[in-house]
Amino acid sequence: MARSTAHIWMLLLPSLYLQVFSIPENSSCNPLFTTFPPGSVSHDSRTALFIPTAGVSSSGYKIPSSGGGVELFLRKPNSEIRTKDGVNNNIADGATLNGTYLTLYGRFTIEISGPRVPGVVTAVVLMAPEGDEIDIEILGGDPDHWQVYNLQPLGALILLTCSCKSNVFVPHASDKEPLYGVFGGIHPYDSAGDQPSTPDSVDAIHTYVIDWTAERIVWIVGDKTVRTLFRRDTVRNGQLHFPSHAARLQLGIWDASSPSGTAEWARGPIDWKIAPAQMTAHVKSVRIECLGMHAFG
Ligand SMILES: *[C@@H]1O[C@H](CO)[C@@H](O)[C@H](O)[C@H]1NC(C)=O
Ligand SMILES: *[C@@H]1O[C@H](CO)[C@@H](O)[C@H](O)[C@H]1NC(C)=O
Repeated sequence: MARSTAHIWMLLLPSLYLQVFSIPENSSCNPLFTTFPPGSVSHDSRTALFIPTAGVSSSGYKIPSSGGGVELFLRKPNSEIRTKDGVNNNIADGATLNGTYLTLYGRFTIEISGPRVPGVVTAVVLMAPEGDEIDIEILGGDPDHWQVYNLQPLGALILLTCSCKSNVFVPHASDKEPLYGVFGGIHPYDSAGDQPSTPDSVDAIHTYVIDWTAERIVWIVGDKTVRTLFRRDTVRNGQLHFPSHAARLQLGIWDASSPSGTAEWARGPIDWKIAPAQMTAHVKSVRIECLGMHAFG
């Protein structure tokens, strides 16, 4: 058994090696910098940089007239919310914005904050039509510190220490099931290195970077690299699972109060007895640079 497995690997490795060092045939990247002027988020695809996803009403987000970004809202459902077995029966609507164009490789810099409420997730997602996905998920409730919170008489600790999560999903036809969590990582904000005065908390604006080349993905918070995932390290079941299709940038806030696995992961469900009826993720700016595209050229 072991011998034949080794044999398969010897056959596979040369082709993987070639794939790792080949230059993508079609890499495309449109540079962009926006602080969300009026019209940048709309249903008018001629002017919009981002289109609200289906079901997001015009009151689901707001571009303040003073400028400086876009606010995405998550609102308490109107109907009664019951919590049972670690899930809520009603899930709040949160706004998600869908980028209007596809980018293959590039450096994505997003200044964003999210509410520090357990069960709420603020997400920066690169999503390809083929299913490749690169994520930053900013959790309003942090597992490790939640335990600290439970031990403390004061509930304030969780507000100071939250975590963000990075992830990659690249479905492959040969996978029997999605490889959830296989490429995930959880990272503390501690000494994230933004401005010295920036609190280590999800509800302060932090600079999150996904630097994606054909060779690797680097996740950065502030000026600190929190994770690097190399293409060569994404082989599972003999197949590469490295994102290699042009993807759309999506920004959103969502209620992770169901199903139970999701709620548990996000330290939900949301406790609406103490959570504000409206919560806000604030996207201050988005920058897309085409650096590193031809790292192999
Ligand atoms: C490259 O990909 C982009 C985005 O997917 C597409 O718009 C463009 O037509 C492609 N170019 C070529 C030469 O295939
Ligand atoms: C984002 O926009 C693309 C292109 O219009 C569309 O195919 C896709 O379904 C949208 N995604 C969501 C989540 O709305």
